[in-house]
Amino acid sequence: MLDPKGRVAMISGANRGIGLAIAKTLSDAGYKLSLGARKPDSIDTSALAGEAITHEWQAQDAGTSSQWVEATRAHYGRIDALVMNAGVIFPADIETGSEDEMDTMWEVNFKGPLRLVRAALPALRDAGHGRVVNVVSLSGIRLMSEGSLGYSASKFASMALTHAIRQNGWDAGIRATAICPGLVDTDMVSHVQTPDGEFKIEAQTIADTTAYALALPDSASVAEIKVNSRLEAMF
Ligand SMILES: NC(=O)c1ccc[n+]([C@@H]2O[C@H](COP(=O)([O-])OP(=O)(O)OC[C@H]3O[C@@H](n4cnc5c(N)ncnc54)[C@H](OP(=O)(O)O)[C@@H]3O)[C@@H](O)[C@H]2O)c1
Repeated sequence: MLDPKGRVAMISGANRGIGLAIAKTLSDAGYKLSLGARKPDSIDTSALAGEAITHEWQAQDAGTSSQWVEATRAHYGRIDALVMNAGVIFPADIETGSEDEMDTMWEVNFKGPLRLVRAALPALRDAGHGRVVNVVSLSGIRLMSEGSLGYSASKFASMALTHAIRQNGWDAGIRATAICPGLVDTDMVSHVQTPDGEFKIEAQTIADTTAYALALPDSASVAEIKVNSRLEAMF
């Protein structure tokens, strides 16, 4: 496994939810962090064990992707890992929901990560063992329920992006993993009640899974990690 000590990781949406849990876990493991958020002041770095800088990142604004990557490289001199975590969900299906909200999900859940990885790839190549974790969803693998078409479409595209990164970066030692959870206990699904026998995954579990994926050696590429919170057939 790769030793995380001194490696530099960027995390999007690091101010709350899964992103904040990932930031704490990677900091405890010894990573130096560059944390992105729409409002960088909303990131609380006081509980982090190691060095962390913050930067504005707006998924819809390509300029903030390159600015954040440049600021990270200027500060640390390298980028070893990119965690593409930020995302949004709105209910939208064939006969319900607005096209504007579908467009927003496409922009944030697919175009945002695309913009980030485009900007970061040269630094990840230079790092030698660059790692990318894309926090996707089981909704990037299967259609869950009425109302989930817009979210799923953006997450299916995000899955394709993860596989494209694997192929693009392979010869340079870059490895990419899509982490695909079911329900995770964050603000995003706080309105969802789980029936008996179904659960919400703790954000910490996804953070630990992320740390594991980032530490895998070049010789053990894991393309997808599916994390179920309820019993369903998976392929
Ligand atoms: N929670 C679940 O059940 C679940 C399950 C599977 C996958 N996921 C995925 O896990 C990831 C993290 O979700 P979460 O559960 O931690 O949700 P969350 O608590 O709602 O946090 C979402 C994060 O994304 C950021 N974000 C939203 N729109 C953005 C934009 N336009 N530009 C930049 N950042 C933006 C938010 O920033 P602000 O604070 O500024 O809004 C926040 O940091 C998402 O990609 C989500 O799709 C979640």
